[in-house]
Parts: sequence; C-alpha cells; structure tokens
Amino acid sequence: MNNSVIEAEKISKKYQMGDSVVTALDRVSFKILEGDFISIIGDSGSGKSTLLNMIGLLDRSSHGRIKLLGKDISGLSDDSLARLRNQTIGFVFQQFNLLSRTSAMDNVLLPAWYNDSLDMEDARKRAVEHFVMFDLEDRMNHFPNQLSGGEQQRVAIIRALICDPKIILADEPTGNLDSKSGGEIMDLLLELNKKLNKTLILVSHNPQQAALAKKKIYLKDGKVVKSL
Ligand SMILES: Nc1ncnc2c1ncn2[C@@H]1O[C@H](COP(=O)(O)OP(=O)(O)OP(=O)(O)O)[C@@H](O)[C@H]1O
Ligand SMILES: [Mg+2]
Repeated sequence: MNNSVIEAEKISKKYQMGDSVVTALDRVSFKILEGDFISIIGDSGSGKSTLLNMIGLLDRSSHGRIKLLGKDISGLSDDSLARLRNQTIGFVFQQFNLLSRTSAMDNVLLPAWYNDSLDMEDARKRAVEHFVMFDLEDRMNHFPNQLSGGEQQRVAIIRALICDPKIILADEPTGNLDSKSGGEIMDLLLELNKKLNKTLILVSHNPQQAALAKKKIYLKDGKVVKSL
C-alpha cells in the first residue's frame, strides 16, 4: 500500500480583520498518498491558496493537525518547518516568483544553498540535467526578463525540483500563460507525477486540467463540499 504523505485533520484558518474574523478554511480533512495527483477546485476566495500554503508549511493553521510524511508538524519551530519544507516540498506559483536580478541557474540553485544535505556541485549537475531535459540548456544564464513566460515557469519547476522533493504544490501554474505554453507546463508536471512518482497537488481554474487528477477536492467558503 502507498504511504500517506499528507494528512489534514480538521484544519481551520482564521484571519482577524479589525473587528471581524475571516474563516478562510473551515475544518478541512483529507489524506494524500505517495504518488497521488490531486486537484483542488473552487471559486475565487474559496480557500485554495490558503490550503496550499498550510500543506506547504508556508503558514500555520489556526486549528487542527497536519501530518507530513507521518509526522505531526504542529509542534515544530519555524526553523524546523523551513528545513522540512526545503527538503520535502517544491512550490510552483502562478507568478513564477523568480528573482529578477538573478540568472535562471542561480534562481534554480537558491533552495539548494539552504539544504545542508545537498552538495552544491551535485545540485549544479542536476540543475544542468534538468535545463537540458526541459529544453532550456541555452537559457541557463538568462535573467527572468529575458525569458518567455513558459520558459520562466519551466525554470521555476527546475527550482522546485532542485532539492528532490517528494511533493510538488502548484498554485495556478498555467494561469499567466497562453494555452500552448500552459499545456507544455501541464505535460511536464504530469510527467513528474507519473515518471518520478512525485506527489502532485494542483490548484487550477482550468476544468480540463483539474479533470486529469486522480482525486479532486472541491472547496466552497473554506469547506470541503465534495471529494472524489
Ligand atoms: N492574509 C489574509 N488576511 C485576511 N484574509 C485573507 C488572507 N489571505 C486570504 N484571506 C481570505 O481568505 C479567503 C480565501 O483566500 P484564498 O486566497 O485562499 O482563496 P483562493 O481560493 O486561492 O482564491 P483565488 O482563486 O482567487 O486565488 C478569502 O476570503 C480571502 O479574502
Ligand atoms: Mg488562490
């Protein structure tokens, strides 16, 4: 049987806004297994990014429990969370989030500098292999503004892979791309899921993309309303 990589037990996220409280997530529970491909679906404001940030250890839940690779993360310090995130999770964002004054290669290598168990020469070799695999071998020394959107997102995916994470979280990864580059990015993510057995969690407004997932979690007003 596949191992569970993420378990969420009744997680809630509340934001205090002046006198009122916004409940962005309301007692959300699910289990994700190794190698799964999950899509998170819901209207704008339903809590998709909030949920991804919780399971990606970018933010803490207000209530409930998250287990990552079988380990309860609620008691961990910020430093331990950052280390665990670096070693376990690769993020891909809609806006690419590359540093603008930094070359594609140096953007990719950045997470590796924060990873104690990686040798930088090995990381650089792996980065070059990925640049070649993603058809970007002649773009390694370009700056982000010298790259197309699709190329920037491929660089961002290489950055997400540099520490060899088990889990890839993608928040609207094709939202800023035309349909052709978007299709290429989706093909890459699917390949990482199928060939490298990376657990893939995708937020997408594109119904065709969302439908490719093995399991779907539907959110409405911060609650799971359906899970298939
Ligand atoms: N830092 C914050 N402070 C206060 N409220 C927030 C904060 N972040 C998110 N929210 C609120 O939480 C709810 C969920 O937001 P979230 O960004 O998760 O939605 P989403 O489903 O990702 O939407 P979209 O599809 O537009 O990206 C929204 O009502 C939003 O206004
Ligand atoms: Mg969002």
